[in-house]
Amino acid sequence: MLSWDDYNDEKAPAPAVEKKIAPEVIQAALAAEPAAAEVRPAAEKVAPAAKPAPAAPAAAVKPGLNNQDAITLAKQAVRDLDPAPGLEELEMGAARVQVDDKRMINCRADLNQLVPFKYEWAWQKYLDGCANHWMPQEVNMTADVATWKSADGLSEDERRVVKRSLGYFSTADSLVANNLVLAIYRHITCPEARQYLLRQAFEEAIHTHAYQYCIESLGMDQGEVFNMYREVPSVAKKAAWSIAHTSGISSPMFQTGTPEADQELLRNLIGFYVVTEGIFFYCGFTQILSMGRRNKMTGVAEQFQYILRDESMHLNFGIDVINQIKLENPHLWTESFKAEVRQMVLEGTELEIQYAHDTMPRGILGMNSSMMEEYLHFIANRRLAQLGLPEAFPGAQNPFPWMSEIMDLRKEKNFFETRVIEYQTGGALSWD
Ligand SMILES: [Fe+2]
Ligand SMILES: [Fe+2]
Repeated sequence: MLSWDDYNDEKAPAPAVEKKIAPEVIQAALAAEPAAAEVRPAAEKVAPAAKPAPAAPAAAVKPGLNNQDAITLAKQAVRDLDPAPGLEELEMGAARVQVDDKRMINCRADLNQLVPFKYEWAWQKYLDGCANHWMPQEVNMTADVATWKSADGLSEDERRVVKRSLGYFSTADSLVANNLVLAIYRHITCPEARQYLLRQAFEEAIHTHAYQYCIESLGMDQGEVFNMYREVPSVAKKAAWSIAHTSGISSPMFQTGTPEADQELLRNLIGFYVVTEGIFFYCGFTQILSMGRRNKMTGVAEQFQYILRDESMHLNFGIDVINQIKLENPHLWTESFKAEVRQMVLEGTELEIQYAHDTMPRGILGMNSSMMEEYLHFIANRRLAQLGLPEAFPGAQNPFPWMSEIMDLRKEKNFFETRVIEYQTGGALSWD
């Protein structure tokens, strides 16, 4: 158990001996300091389009600055601080936000104000994500370790499925997370949607943790598994497709605001939410969950089950964001752009079918690559329909209806009845 002392800054070791800097440097830095009476009261914080004031003069802030001089500089910096700068370029300044000011992209209102809510569904998804919290260590991996290490626990084809799945997913979720925080986040200008993006980013970290936890528990060759996304063609092609379709907006120079740039953002959202999370995850998830249903590798399967539930929420959030952007910017959804989006979904489906053939050269676990192909056609139809586009594979059926059962969010309470670990909360800390 952690003690309060672990968090108590007051018990930290004494600082090193200070070195004084020349008094004339400090004097020069403070020469322009205004009298205290000139400081504006807090009530006067109306400063539209104001820029942040410079902090303490950089020339005066040196290693070895003594405490008194450092405090004097800090007081000066705080006194000169603009009271209403905003963190991002805001054409409307940091005024109070009205609901009608809010937009999913290209919003000019203050993004630091979560409320008033306009997109209640985004806030609700954030709450739902938090309610589903889980950690990989909660899952008992003992039986999996015994099965993996025994000579006849799994067939060679089953071992291949486990290795390929962990190989693809161990890096795929990092690709997703990096795209999320380094690219998408900056361009979504709705605070309640950003709140969900932050939750999703943490969930992606948990997923990568879960795969690492499986790989370590089973004693796999970590270098081999984590490099499959570069070394095994059927895995590498999927990763390469995601990177090609999701990196366009990550340049610091990229800005939304023109039809071309806004379509580039949509391309990223579709490549990331609809294809990567909405198609590329489905063969591997189905294979591992089928294994779990046959009472093999149940720990790995349980981890995947939790992850799949998170992922289906990521997918639904992404679809909602894309459709909201379409609604607010109908000029982006042109006939040629629709054709391009359909092509992206078809390419993703084809890559996942190739992955199915590579991972299932023979029928296993009550399925084969032809059934998976049918399933992926069914999934592709769903993704197209969710985007408001016509189906590409009319009549495709779902050969794995139990997958829908597993993803059914109404069942989520049952998932957690087996939880064995309680989270350490404030109540677990000792104040002694
Ligand atoms: Fe994930
Ligand atoms: Fe995800």
